[in-house]
Amino acid sequence: METTPSTKVPRIFLCSLVLIFSMPWSTKAQIHEGFLRCLHSQNNDSISQVIYTPTNTSYNSVLQSSIQNIRFLSPMERKPLVIVTPLSNFHVQLVVNCAKSNDLQIRVRSGGHDYEGLSYLSYYLQPFVIVDMRNLSRISIDTESKTAWIGAGVGLGKLYHAIAEKSPNLGFPAGTCPTVGAGGHISGGGEGTLTRKYGLAADNVIDAKIVKADGAILDRKSMGEDLFWAIRGGGGASFGVILAYRIQLVSVPSIVTVFSVNRSLEQNATKLVHLWQHIGYRLDRDLLIRVFITQARSGGKLTVQAAFQSLYLGTVAKLVPLMQESFPELGLRREDCTELSWIESAVYFSDLPSGSTVDDLVRSSPYPKNYYKNKSDYVVEPISEVALEGLWKRFFEEGAEAGMLILSPSGGRMFEISDSETPYPHRAGNIYQIQHITSWTEEENANSQRFIDWIRRLYKYMAPFVSKYPRAAYLNYRDLDLGTNREGNTSFAQASVWGMKYFKKNFYRLAHVKQEVDPSNFFRYEQSIPPFLSSLKWRNA
Ligand SMILES: Cc1cc2nc3c(=O)[nH]c(=O)nc-3n(C[C@H](O)[C@H](O)[C@H](O)COP(=O)(O)OP(=O)(O)OC[C@H]3O[C@@H](n4cnc5c(N)ncnc54)[C@H](O)[C@@H]3O)c2cc1C
Ligand SMILES: *[C@@H]1O[C@H](CO)[C@@H](O)[C@H](O)[C@H]1NC(C)=O
Ligand SMILES: *[C@@H]1O[C@H](CO)[C@@H](O)[C@H](O)[C@H]1NC(C)=O
Ligand SMILES: *[C@@H]1O[C@H](CO)[C@@H](O)[C@H](O)[C@H]1NC(C)=O
Ligand SMILES: *[C@@H]1O[C@H](CO)[C@@H](O)[C@H](O)[C@H]1NC(C)=O
Ligand SMILES: *[C@@H]1O[C@H](CO)[C@@H](O)[C@H](O)[C@H]1NC(C)=O
Ligand SMILES: *[C@@H]1O[C@H](CO)[C@@H](O)[C@H](O)[C@H]1NC(C)=O
Ligand SMILES: *[C@@H]1O[C@H](CO)[C@@H](O)[C@H](O)[C@H]1NC(C)=O
Repeated sequence: METTPSTKVPRIFLCSLVLIFSMPWSTKAQIHEGFLRCLHSQNNDSISQVIYTPTNTSYNSVLQSSIQNIRFLSPMERKPLVIVTPLSNFHVQLVVNCAKSNDLQIRVRSGGHDYEGLSYLSYYLQPFVIVDMRNLSRISIDTESKTAWIGAGVGLGKLYHAIAEKSPNLGFPAGTCPTVGAGGHISGGGEGTLTRKYGLAADNVIDAKIVKADGAILDRKSMGEDLFWAIRGGGGASFGVILAYRIQLVSVPSIVTVFSVNRSLEQNATKLVHLWQHIGYRLDRDLLIRVFITQARSGGKLTVQAAFQSLYLGTVAKLVPLMQESFPELGLRREDCTELSWIESAVYFSDLPSGSTVDDLVRSSPYPKNYYKNKSDYVVEPISEVALEGLWKRFFEEGAEAGMLILSPSGGRMFEISDSETPYPHRAGNIYQIQHITSWTEEENANSQRFIDWIRRLYKYMAPFVSKYPRAAYLNYRDLDLGTNREGNTSFAQASVWGMKYFKKNFYRLAHVKQEVDPSNFFRYEQSIPPFLSSLKWRNA
């Protein structure tokens, strides 16, 4: 049964779970008391408005409000001893200092969209506090310099909305889900519809503020270029609590064009997907075409469907001839296309219910919550038609009903940035990324194993066709199947199993930065970067 993630974490975690339940309450209570006393010791009255312990009536609602994956709502999961929703940078410093002096672990949560719930649950023995950044969400835009300071708690939808209110010709290249938080998203990379033109969200960060393990607040200048490098793709939570990012806004035209064209197997989907692999990453960088592969029904018959979904940074009049020239086989017609403003395109790509407006981008919880398990891959060489046909077979199997693959093309700006410019290493040579997805509902949860088995079988099938040595993965699509750190003690060699998948050689430099800024490994979690406990410098490694 996969009703809790405990079945897929290594046995060592199961042992710790047993220990957790047998941990004497008195010890927990002492830590708890000590921590709260410490928080109040600064005589800062406002802190008591934002401390939630299990006895506060709103503890559960605060805990659950931004949990995106209800797999992790189970009462079996380990809950935080305390949740704090800081109102100021000072509050964050206070929590870090008091947690450290009371032997509490910290989990930092911005939007709560971590695929494995690591921003609000812990498989470790040590009690923990959640620092929830929701109230540190100021957006301050300077249209002159085309930059903005944004609090880590800002949701992407609110950010896009605020930018569009200042100017219809400014945007930001980040993800498509409006409730994803800046803190996790940008520190882990951040991909979206503007990635081919402008790179990742992390590629467009020009300054940051972070609270380090010693409680100090640093900006780019005082943290230095190594730490500033690490928190633009290496994940923030290994290094401290990111308070805010200063981002570079980018130009978008007044009119953009979107389309979504679906083709089933009977409508040449195999040939089209095969062909798309050769051209998707080479298209004009104003043109993004993603492909969604799902099971579908056509005339009562089960089939596989490829949905070609696109954003073009220009008008229909320019897009139609461009498609005629670069991808005529898709047979795009003028009437398939819709012209929108850039901010309206953000609604189009958001998965908000149809009929949603630009103002719905600022809603804090627009999604019906579901159970999910996702995985990721990078493709370096087009997959043959025969192999694609083998893939389609998986979509006819038991458990494939809610399966989906999203193929996102690379190229453009992504190919111009070197693999070591930021910790995100999947640049030139990766022609597209795959996200493997499965989801299921509350009613189906008793049979959740069939969906999880399906996605693991699919992932296994794909092995020969995707990147190898290492088989790469995207940090923001976190996957604990790739491996986890041991409680409190992280061997560099063990961590490098998953670390190399997310970061390739950049993992060494990340571990070096970690050694410099947090040698005692205070900021640790199941997939945090371990300190590089070696006299070797990463440069010689
Ligand atoms: C519905 C949905 C759609 C998505 N769409 C996209 C997409 O289009 N493109 C894309 O690239 N990704 C996408 N993602 C993945 C998303 O980018 C990651 O899950 C991201 O890490 C979420 O950030 P968060 O702040 O919402 O999550 P959280 O769960 O709050 O945090 C994620 C991780 O970052 C850490 N963290 C969070 N805030 C801070 C902080 N202030 N300081 C230090 N560490 C911090 C957490 O501790 C955790 O380890 C999507 C996810 C979901 C659930
Ligand atoms: C939670 O309860 C404690 C103790 O009763 C109280 O001090 C605190 O203010 C409460 N928190 C909130 C946010 O109301
Ligand atoms: C207490 O916290 C509030 C809000 O975070 C802040 O504005 C204020 O300056 C703090 N007061 C002291 C004494 O630190
Ligand atoms: C998996 O991907 C889908 C589609 O992008 C997303 O809605 C879902 O939240 C993701 N899974 C998890 C575990 O959050
Ligand atoms: C903190 O944020 C929550 C959710 O956005 C909000 O309901 C609450 O009023 C905020 N608290 C304060 C004190 O601003
Ligand atoms: C294409 O398929 C997608 C995903 O299955 C569906 O949401 C959409 O409505 C379809 N579009 C058209 C034009 O048929
Ligand atoms: C499929 O491709 C063939 C040629 O390769 C073409 O004749 C046919 O019209 C296409 N079918 C569809 C539905 O596009
Ligand atoms: C953890 O690592 C430290 C070195 O950092 C070592 O001294 C200690 O023995 C290790 N503990 C366990 C339980 O492995």
